[in-house]
Amino acid sequence: MLLIKLLITLVVTTFAANPSTFPTVEVVGNKFFYTNNGSQFYLRGIAYQQDTSEVRSDSEEVIHFVDPLSDPKVCKRDIPYLKELNTNVLRVYALDVNSDHDECMKALQDADIYVIADLSAPNVSIITDHPTWDLELYKRYTSVIDTMAKYENLLGFFAGNEVITDSTNTECAAFVKAAVRDMKRYIADSGYRKIPVGYSANDDADTRVASADYFSCGELDERADFYENRRVFQFDYPCIFL
Ligand SMILES: *[C@@H]1O[C@H](CO)[C@@H](O)[C@H](O)[C@H]1NC(C)=O
Ligand SMILES: *[C@@H]1O[C@H](CO)[C@@H](O)[C@H](O)[C@H]1NC(C)=O
Repeated sequence: MLLIKLLITLVVTTFAANPSTFPTVEVVGNKFFYTNNGSQFYLRGIAYQQDTSEVRSDSEEVIHFVDPLSDPKVCKRDIPYLKELNTNVLRVYALDVNSDHDECMKALQDADIYVIADLSAPNVSIITDHPTWDLELYKRYTSVIDTMAKYENLLGFFAGNEVITDSTNTECAAFVKAAVRDMKRYIADSGYRKIPVGYSANDDADTRVASADYFSCGELDERADFYENRRVFQFDYPCIFL
């Protein structure tokens, strides 16, 4: 009897400790790895978002966008095509934190597709010409983290998208790096798993290497975990990682 009880306890705790076998992905050093077996994870990414410029805008203050992971009909329609392209990562540029993402994230997980989500939105982002890192941005960024951190196929977050555009505005990099530091801290303090936080650069020949160096220097808890360059992402080469 005791043995059976013990066995049952063992079985229950085994399942409780391991509710899913879907492997999360982490950054160690300058590469991505599966956490289940330590194999390197190579990204084959697709940018997945309707262009916001095509979406109706009522006024300059309110920029509408379509959350690409909020409509299960749409994401489920697209998954077979994404699989056909051998995609294993989607990048989504703007999420609505009030939408439900469960169904699309589950469908993507079932298809072994991970997601990298931008923390900003078209109307709440670090602006090149007058950069800030303030409470409004902090709230937007942390709300996206709170919405997405629970998904095992969430691969990472971008703390900035093409904020530095050329050698005349590199000072805005400091604001993005502050965002990276604070979001890594927020993820740790909230008890979420170690989700990578990165920066997404434009393809400016004068600044791309220097900005990669800038985002990769410093202590582990303040530097970016990965660095994406528009050109390499678009052309489906492996991204540059820090
Ligand atoms: C490690 O796990 C991943 C995800 O399940 C799998 O694709 C990969 O083939 C595994 N690597 C090895 C060496 O078994
Ligand atoms: C940004 O846009 C969203 C909807 O697109 C809106 O809910 C939100 O209030 C806007 N935020 C600001 C700061 O304008």
